[in-house]
Amino acid sequence: MISAPVLPDGWTLVALDSVGSTNDEAVLLAEAGAPEGTFVWGREQTGGRGRRGRGWASPVGNLYCSTVLRPDCTAQRAAELGFIAAIAVADLVRDGRSVRVKWPNDVLVDGGKVAGILPESSIGQDARVEHVVLGIGVNVAFAPELPEMRYPGATLGGTVEAAVEGLTAGLARWLAVWRSRGFETVRAAWLERAGPLGATVDVKLGEELVSGSFAGMDREGALLLETPAGPRRIVSGELLGRAA
Ligand code: BTN
Repeated sequence: MISAPVLPDGWTLVALDSVGSTNDEAVLLAEAGAPEGTFVWGREQTGGRGRRGRGWASPVGNLYCSTVLRPDCTAQRAAELGFIAAIAVADLVRDGRSVRVKWPNDVLVDGGKVAGILPESSIGQDARVEHVVLGIGVNVAFAPELPEMRYPGATLGGTVEAAVEGLTAGLARWLAVWRSRGFETVRAAWLERAGPLGATVDVKLGEELVSGSFAGMDREGALLLETPAGPRRIVSGELLGRAA
């Protein structure tokens, strides 16, 4: 018999056999007052959502989850939580495999995408965050190949239950770091797990394609590039697969 995963103190597990999207379910719970640490886990999703209006194939075997967070902060600072999710996923990968975070929120293992992260914030009239739903999909057993994927797929291995326990522990740990020490410590941890400075990267900005060398991430979470036309600071865009 498989025992239910153990979550960090104060977290609540909402386990569902099948759900449209765990993000949608978590938003409904958050709007009904669910506290921080409410963790919605679906064995499968029938309407999994990815970034930029894409879908996220979600058959049984991989991890699909969304965590309700209630940071007392502005929308700008809430965007920092996506980097926490990427670090927590990267820390699940066992030693001996190459793991890299890619701006903004991708995690690659041995060059293949192992997880997708979809943070969604609700902003109040005072421009402060009411709640954030941090949606994370991890390829545990298999890597769906979709035509629009920018990277090949990779898998984490192990069981979904072990991934739930490791991921929630990592999220709780890095959230505590973010609250006590601020984004600077999270940024340093993210940069340690990112590709080398100077690596050539391509970034899609709407219809524009910008190539340059990776120059880090600034204190606001923006990607820094050195391009032939000079330095560029990118707040929204998509890194393409050539990134080293
Ligand atoms: C991406 O496009 O890279 C982000 C994919 C995010 C998928 C996860 S699976 C759990 C949660 N529920 C969803 O509908 N999407 C996110």
